Amino acid sequence: MFDIKKFRDTPTPFYYYDMELLSNTLDAIKKASPEKEYCVHYAIKANSNPMILKFIAKNGFGADCVSEGEIRAAINAGFPAEKIVFAGVGKGDSEIDFAIDNGVGCFNVESLPELQLINEMAINKDKVVNVALRVNPNIDAHTHHYITTGLDENKFGIALEMLDEAITYCLKQPNLHLIGLHFHIGSQITTNEPFKVLCAKINAMVEHYSAQGINFESINVGGGLGIDYENPDSNPIPDFSSYFDTFRKNLKLSKGQSLHFELGRSVVAQCGSLITKVLYVKEGLKKKFVIVDAGMTDLIRPALYQAHHLIQNITSSSSLTETYDVVGPICESSDCFGVNETLPVTSRGDLLALRSAGAYGEIMASQYNCRKLPQAIFN
Ligand code: LLP
Repeated sequence: MFDIKKFRDTPTPFYYYDMELLSNTLDAIKKASPEKEYCVHYAIKANSNPMILKFIAKNGFGADCVSEGEIRAAINAGFPAEKIVFAGVGKGDSEIDFAIDNGVGCFNVESLPELQLINEMAINKDKVVNVALRVNPNIDAHTHHYITTGLDENKFGIALEMLDEAITYCLKQPNLHLIGLHFHIGSQITTNEPFKVLCAKINAMVEHYSAQGINFESINVGGGLGIDYENPDSNPIPDFSSYFDTFRKNLKLSKGQSLHFELGRSVVAQCGSLITKVLYVKEGLKKKFVIVDAGMTDLIRPALYQAHHLIQNITSSSSLTETYDVVGPICESSDCFGVNETLPVTSRGDLLALRSAGAYGEIMASQYNCRKLPQAIFN
């Protein structure tokens, strides 16, 4: 996976990206979704490192952005503006202004007041803006409660009961072009069942509106496909075939209708690892701690979502193992990457890899404790 000698002098912690794996992952997505009606927008929030963005843009993908900064990053990396969708429950006035001026392909709108503001700004600029309405379909994605988004109690999307009003409003505004409906039910979804349920709900809605003479050019099903955090080497590329097949088999697309996806984690998670150095091996009364130089500031997912990233000692040659808690240097008890981890006997100076960290890793890093941000290294 990783040539240690090459990175001996790189200051730790750092993110290491395997670009060959990223390339193979992008190829797998393209192979599993060859239809011209299918359009995959990479969800930039997962990782907006410029090298990664340029590589994904070069491969012909669109982008899913949630802020002006992300739109700027996408445009700088070469994503065509018309392939950018702009989502988010709280788009600021200046962000909407920027997105209209730069001709983004579609606004995924989450409320009536947002729709009214976009309309006002479009009128002032004498422009017609494409909008899709984000619907909250009330589906349980069976994932961590912080990353489930499609339930009634979540802040996202327009409730089904209020959709008629939003559609009627759009249809009356010459400066809004309603192109479709948008959904996103959650993240790290590891079975296709919730996506099947989503398809059934979409079919019913599309049929309901079609009976009233309202037809949609595009359906956007969001992202959410999960990855295998425990076995990154046996499952380096998510099962895109069965993911896209789920939509192929269960979603009725009418002629000319396009289907949009916003995949983030499944595109970039497995190609990234956080490499960290062991500072100390500390004997506690009940435990042995491996204290590493990466902390929750570099990878917050374990502290925030109780997520577990596979931890590997990539320099120890010991055939004996020990049980350790692997912890960082930050002054918080949640700064812990693993409890009772079995690792080869580990010593000061060893390098550990925290795997599957390409998504929501580097981009969520912070400078808490006045720490430096981790660097990124590409193979
Ligand atoms: N579309 C929308 C509207 C979203 O809100 C998200 C993610 C995506 C697409 C991409 O979802 P993905 O394919 O990556 O599952 N920081 C959390 C994940 C937050 C996801 C937020 N929305 C984590 O580290 O697990």
